[in-house]
Amino acid sequence: MARIGTVDSCLLIAYSLLAFCSFITSVSSWNRLSDGALKKLPSPGDTLHPDKGKLLKPLLIPRVVNTEGSRKALRHFTTFFSDLNWSLNYDNFSQPTVISKDPVPFANFWATLDPPWKTQERHQGEIGRLVLVAHYDSKIEPAGFIGATDSAAPCAMIMHIAKAIDGAMRRKWAKMEKDADEFEMADEQGLMVLLLDGEEAFKWWSSEDSIYGARHLAEKWESTMNAAHSTYKNHLSSINLFVLLDLLGAPMPRVPSYFKVTHWAYQHLADLEIRLRGLGLLESGKDHALFLPDRDKTVFPEGLSIEDDHIPFLKKGVDILHLIASPFPSVWHTMNDDGAHLDKQVVNDWAVIVSAFVAEWYGLEPYLTANGDGMSTISKRLNKTEL
Ligand SMILES: *[C@@H]1O[C@H](CO)[C@@H](O)[C@H](O)[C@H]1NC(C)=O
Ligand SMILES: *[C@@H]1O[C@H](CO)[C@@H](O)[C@H](O)[C@H]1NC(C)=O
Ligand SMILES: *[C@@H]1O[C@H](CO)[C@@H](O)[C@H](O)[C@H]1NC(C)=O
Ligand SMILES: [Zn+2]
Repeated sequence: MARIGTVDSCLLIAYSLLAFCSFITSVSSWNRLSDGALKKLPSPGDTLHPDKGKLLKPLLIPRVVNTEGSRKALRHFTTFFSDLNWSLNYDNFSQPTVISKDPVPFANFWATLDPPWKTQERHQGEIGRLVLVAHYDSKIEPAGFIGATDSAAPCAMIMHIAKAIDGAMRRKWAKMEKDADEFEMADEQGLMVLLLDGEEAFKWWSSEDSIYGARHLAEKWESTMNAAHSTYKNHLSSINLFVLLDLLGAPMPRVPSYFKVTHWAYQHLADLEIRLRGLGLLESGKDHALFLPDRDKTVFPEGLSIEDDHIPFLKKGVDILHLIASPFPSVWHTMNDDGAHLDKQVVNDWAVIVSAFVAEWYGLEPYLTANGDGMSTISKRLNKTEL
């Protein structure tokens, strides 16, 4: 009896140790940035300024589907991401719309930064990715509509985020290749920036007249299968989280948590806002109302979701983090949604909060540099260099 008892309790201890260890692993697999690392996040500086920002200003033009403005925006993305040496892709397709029986050409764009040991075609099925998404087209009416929050500023924020983490990602991967830990290397994810065309309706928003680009791409990725025995069965299932930024850049934003399944991700983002704000690292200031007030929310009423580019992906089972202001900006779909009505501090703060999230997602703490990879750091911008 006693002997058996001993064996049993040993087993029990072994099991609880195992359980405890896997608990520790699953908890520590989120890599919280230290205060010191938060201070080192690269600052957007003036790059997101409406009048002089090299990332944002070129986008503050009408970008209606299949017009010169839309092609200019695409060229801006292409130049930027090829300078960063990311891999570029287009999904060009044509289809009739409610205002045209003839097929209208649309162009979705994406750029990826993948671990160097996974970039060959035969590794496609092994790469999961965090995907940062915005739409780059602008509404056809009123004529001359800019859509600064909708979604020129979100596109430019994402460009900053890509640049802000690029160097740290590459340093991390160089270290991983040197250490050659097969298991870590097999798990390592890539990052994708996805800029969609044709989000806006040409006439009245409906399921047929809106999100043309997103509908096309979700369909295409679902049916593009990876090789048998891949980790991810098709291009859609390799999206680990679809983070959609929309209607951001206006003053006093409030972004609720929309989905219970991705509330854990919202909580990490909301935590980062609280910490950055507390450290005085946000330009909107320590006492500004939270952009992300729902960290402690527990009840998720049905029907809270807003129609947007995530819908076709959501319907196919992709996890979505929807960062869209609710209520919408007061300038929404009016001529006042222009550069002059953006809140420059809010724009920069969004870019910083989401960069911090990406840095935590990939565990970039050891790879951030004291000079913000040449972009300067958020603590230097706000003269918060003392610890
Ligand atoms: C760009 O990336 C490719 C592989 O994706 C690499 O072979 C090349 O050396 C890189 N070029 C620069 C300038 O970093
Ligand atoms: C897709 O369309 C864009 C815009 O017209 C163009 O710049 C790009 O080269 C096209 N890409 C492909 C692969 O056809
Ligand atoms: C930071 O310090 C510099 C130089 O002393 C000053 O010009 C700048 O206005 C300060 N910035 C802030 C946000 O206080
Ligand atoms: Zn819109």
